[in-house]
Amino acid sequence: MKIKLFAATAVLVLGLAACGGEPPAPAPAPAAPVAEAPPPEPAPVATASVGETPADPVAFMKTRHDNYKDLGKNFKLMSDNNKLPAPDMAAVTAAAAKVKEYAGQMGTWFPPGTGPEAGETKAKAIVWTERADFDAKLADLQTEVDKLVTAAGTDAAAFKAQFGPTGGKCKACHDKFREEEKK
Ligand code: HEC
Repeated sequence: MKIKLFAATAVLVLGLAACGGEPPAPAPAPAAPVAEAPPPEPAPVATASVGETPADPVAFMKTRHDNYKDLGKNFKLMSDNNKLPAPDMAAVTAAAAKVKEYAGQMGTWFPPGTGPEAGETKAKAIVWTERADFDAKLADLQTEVDKLVTAAGTDAAAFKAQFGPTGGKCKACHDKFREEEKK
């Protein structure tokens, strides 16, 4: 939180410096876009706007990582159930819905200024330079996840048939755009 505080202070100082003198009335300050402005609108579906650099890239990147961890947890639940003769279809259906939600948001998780130059991340810099391919791989995932949600709502056999193809789309993006795990 130190960083945030510092940033806030910096904004304040800059603001003061910029004003100078003794303005009798607060100048029509172009209200400093301070941290934590909520996303202006619900995340668009497929190719998501690239967005602007967040005020606090490190915090933004931490949230991105937390989201991926939760996405991974939901995916693991499905993977575990995929191996069972009788999957828990209520749990699978809930997890599939959650994965769909994350897949729908993912395009907004990589605004400029949130790559390896900004802090710890496994996202490769090419996410930002080969964005069209990144978005295409994300769209592929969204297509398969839609089918997965339908399949999970159908029956265990349908779920099992669609789980692998969905996981393949996660992998396709990771193979190109994510750093290997350090072992
Ligand atoms: C369009 C590209 C793309 C797709 C599709 C994608 N991911 Fe990722 N994923 C990434 C990138 C990039 C990172 C690294 C993010 C970071 O470290 O800031 C990541 C990170 C993760 C992590 C965090 C790993 C760690 O601990 O650092 C998990 C878990 C994960 N993804 C799971 C999934 C699952 C499950 C799917 C499919 C349902 C999926 N991802 C689909 C690009 C993608």
